[in-house]
This record gives sequence, C-alpha cells and structure tokens, in this order.
Amino acid sequence: MSVMDTLVSRRTYRRFAQKAVPQDVVDDIVEAVRLSSCGANRQAVRLVVVNKPEAVAKVQPLVKWAAYLPPEQGTPKADELPTLYVAVVQDTSIPGDLATDTGIALANMTLAAWDKGVGSCIMGAINKPVLTELLGIEEPQKLAFMVAFGYPTHKAHIVPLTAETGVKYYLDENRDYCVPKRSKEEIAKYL
Ligand SMILES: Cc1cc2nc3c(=O)[nH]c(=O)nc-3n(C[C@H](O)[C@H](O)[C@H](O)COP(=O)(O)O)c2cc1C
Repeated sequence: MSVMDTLVSRRTYRRFAQKAVPQDVVDDIVEAVRLSSCGANRQAVRLVVVNKPEAVAKVQPLVKWAAYLPPEQGTPKADELPTLYVAVVQDTSIPGDLATDTGIALANMTLAAWDKGVGSCIMGAINKPVLTELLGIEEPQKLAFMVAFGYPTHKAHIVPLTAETGVKYYLDENRDYCVPKRSKEEIAKYL
C-alpha cells in the first residue's frame, strides 16, 4: 500500500474481532514511537502496553467511545471490544513541546499498526486518575492518551464535509463509519 493509500484507509475503528494482536505488531507500535521525530530529540514519550486479556478487560470501562453517537451505535459491544490498549505517557521531567511530540507518536504508532491490518482508536476521553493508578504510572510521568487496537470488523469512509454533515461522523446502512473531511480548497491556500 502506498503511504497515501495508508493515510486514506487508516481511520478510527471502534468495533473489532476477538483476536489477539500479534507480538510483531506490538513490537512495530513500540518501534514507531521510538523512532518518532520530536523536539530537540529529547524523546519524552513513554508507553505502557496492555495486552494480557485480564488487564485489557480492566481498561475497557475506563475509556469513552464515539461522543457523536448514541452508545448503542458507538460503543463496542462485549464481542466487539479492542484486544490491545497502549497507554501513551509523557515524561514531564523532560522539557519541550510534549503535546506535539505526543501527536507525532500517536500518528506513527497507529500507522505502523494499520500497515499490518490492525486498526486503532486514539482515546482522549479516558478516566485518567483511575487508569494512572491501574497502570502504575508515577510522577513525573503523566498519562496523555490510551490507544485501542484490534482487527476491525467495519469499514470507515471519508465523505465530503457539507453544511448538512458538519464535522460529526455517522454510521451508514452497513454500520460503517462515515467521516466528513473538509475539502483541500478549504484547508490550503496557495500563494
Ligand atoms: C486527540 C484525539 C482524541 C480522541 N479521543 C477519542 C475518544 O476519546 N473516543 C473516541 O471514540 N474517539 C476518539 N478520537 C477519535 C476521533 O473521534 C477521530 O479521529 C475523528 O472522529 C476523525 O476520524 P478519523 O480518525 O477516522 O479521521 C480521538 C482522536 C484524537 C486525534
């Protein structure tokens, strides 16, 4: 797959097959973060890999899915849950633009997984205090995001953003995600 094809199809996925993510994909996710560009090459992003089924089960109730959809549409059911979570953590003792470094790491890790067919959902709506305790994250490390991973059981399509759609994603008749994106004309100006 070309990089552009990967960028088109690497969408957010929220329903998954109940099949473990293999170790080589976990290794790629970690490697993608390890190699990420970051300010002054300070490398402040850390990961906590949650892949044992009992640990994954404890994380499930601590993340919130698809704020634009009613829970019966957007929240995965028991047989649709992700099979791997990775916590993205910032070492706040390291100076720099940690938000930007974290964003690049999130992009790289989700792309690396998708290159092997593993879909993901970056999750910011998470119960940080409880997850911080559960995952044993200690100062000066700070939990920033959870990323859910698994083999998707639905598709996701880019659709034009119109006055009718606004920015909100929705499900089509196949329960596939439709994700409105602004046009190239709207987002770029050429001088
Ligand atoms: C910083 C960030 C936080 C997000 N938090 C959540 C979340 O808590 N729950 C969720 O279901 N999706 C979450 N998402 C996924 C977004 O809803 C999704 O990226 C957006 O709707 C666009 O879809 P796309 O990723 O397919 O382009 C988050 C994405 C990002 C980048």
